[in-house]
Amino acid sequence: MHVPFARAQAPAPEEDVQAKMQAWSKALGVECTHCHIENQWDLGYLPVFDLAFRMEKMVKELNAGPLKQYGGNLTCNTCHQGKLTPPKVTREQWERDAKRYEAAYNGDQSLALQMGIFTASLGVGCSYCHDPNNWGWDDHPNKAVARRMRGMVGSINKHFAGVTNPEISCMTCHQGKPKISRSDEQQ
Ligand code: HEC
Ligand code: HEC
Ligand code: HEC
Ligand code: HEC
Repeated sequence: MHVPFARAQAPAPEEDVQAKMQAWSKALGVECTHCHIENQWDLGYLPVFDLAFRMEKMVKELNAGPLKQYGGNLTCNTCHQGKLTPPKVTREQWERDAKRYEAAYNGDQSLALQMGIFTASLGVGCSYCHDPNNWGWDDHPNKAVARRMRGMVGSINKHFAGVTNPEISCMTCHQGKPKISRSDEQQ
């Protein structure tokens, strides 16, 4: 087998490129040639190569920005978990509780959709953020976090220019749990 790292030119000293490439391949569940042309490792004209570059920038921005107060450390694997496409919220998932809480939503479909996405993505019930006897009560700390996270989700889309319908939601990172995965292992 060809050994791509046995090169005359050493990788940038501040970053271990080999470890990074292995982590990326594992996180996405792909071979090196998903992004590279074999034996031409420094060529980057494949569109996925460019997207990987942009994803790396996105991860750095999120960790240094909106996620800093939560400890940062978002990785490629947090969202990808060994797959090219992170999971999306299905219609069945977000509609699950729509009927049951019809009275609370009072005909507001977009509110029902939003709340359905929240509960499915975090794997929680309404009372994780609400007092069900007083939906408008605003002092629950998780409700405040959810508002901030919603703003962050809006800011993530810009990194996906050119990708058809990437569907960034709470599910992309949370994947059914209140805490995100930071491990290299896949669930
Ligand atoms: C998801 C896409 C992707 C995958 C998978 C991937 N790479 Fe990369 N690779 C890149 C990008 C983007 C760069 C440039 C970023 C950088 O240098 O930090 C790069 C840089 C490199 C470089 C440095 C090239 C240079 O300009 O000096 C080598 C060598 C390399 N990759 C080898 C590999 C090997 C071997 C694998 C499989 C274990 C692999 N890559 C998997 C996207 C990928
Ligand atoms: C916030 C969640 C998130 C993180 C973190 C993330 N990605 Fe992605 N990535 C996505 C989404 C969403 C897509 C679009 C998938 C789709 O809809 O096709 C995607 C797509 C990609 C693709 C294109 C897949 C294809 O079809 O070939 C590559 C390559 C990729 N990501 C690399 C990376 C790398 C490398 C990292 C870490 C530096 C990373 N991603 C981190 C969410 C994420
Ligand atoms: C992760 C936190 C979270 C979960 C879980 C959640 N909500 Fe909400 N909910 C919010 C936030 C944040 C708002 C405020 C939205 C806004 O500011 O536009 C809200 C708003 C509402 C409102 C409008 C009143 C208000 O406070 O503005 C209703 C009604 C509501 N949610 C019902 C539900 C129901 C029913 C469920 C369970 C199926 C649910 N929510 C689950 C965070 C959550
Ligand atoms: C880019 C990744 C990412 C996305 C997208 C995301 N979150 Fe989060 N969320 C985090 C991280 C990181 C934490 C801190 C908890 C942890 O360390 O895992 C967190 C924590 C939370 C918490 C507090 C949980 C706790 O027990 O501390 C709530 C509530 C929450 N998110 C709601 C949401 C909602 C609602 C959405 C969609 C509007 C969303 N998140 C989208 C990364 C994300």
